[in-house]
Amino acid sequence: MLTIKDAIEQRRSIRKFRPDSIPDEHITALLDAARLAPSGSNAQPWRFKIVKDRETKLKLTQAAYNQVFIAEAPVVLVCCADIKGYLHGTVSGTQDLGKIGAVEDRIVKIILKRAEKIKTMGIEQLGHRIAFNVAIAVEHIVLRALDFGLGSCWVRLIDERMVKNIFSWDENIYVVALLPIGYPDESPPPRKRLKLEDIVID
Ligand SMILES: Cc1cc2nc3c(=O)[nH]c(=O)nc-3n(C[C@H](O)[C@H](O)[C@H](O)COP(=O)(O)O)c2cc1C
Repeated sequence: MLTIKDAIEQRRSIRKFRPDSIPDEHITALLDAARLAPSGSNAQPWRFKIVKDRETKLKLTQAAYNQVFIAEAPVVLVCCADIKGYLHGTVSGTQDLGKIGAVEDRIVKIILKRAEKIKTMGIEQLGHRIAFNVAIAVEHIVLRALDFGLGSCWVRLIDERMVKNIFSWDENIYVVALLPIGYPDESPPPRKRLKLEDIVID
């Protein structure tokens, strides 16, 4: 098992996969890593569609501007936000945090008042707001995958409407990203990164 430091340092975006399938228990372990991610008010708005069949993977590839490597991955996770679940989870999660004393009553009131305001937002605005909670869960999956020798690649260049149409999802599901996962058939060098001093604001 890798340390977190190892996983962070060794991770690369993988765009070439061997065809070998992934054991179900490893997929379950990846989803469990997502499940344990932090989220605002503990709302846990992430939802995942597990895609293994070639036909759907090809449709997802088309919805991602024909990024062909997507269809070559044995598994593609369609990473989504559940809008209703988020609204409900924000309220119940905040109340829970208040009850156990993790968050002051004063803060609970502010969050609940904000939740009322959030309800009046349009789907796009809400989706964007929720998406970063999903992103944290997705990155848990990305890092945990290394423990099983798996690689993945975030795919955000997608036509969200096309993805939703594939599954006939309604407005309640907001598509955040695709995550093709599989055994790497490449070992890319580290990509360029900014220097430490470039990321610290004086
Ligand atoms: C939010 C997000 C969206 C991305 N979308 C795509 C994508 O649509 N297609 C792709 O090939 N790579 C995509 N990537 C991968 C990036 O290109 C990659 O993370 C970056 O070049 C750094 O390389 P590394 O991940 O190997 O360190 C995305 C990464 C992130 C975090």
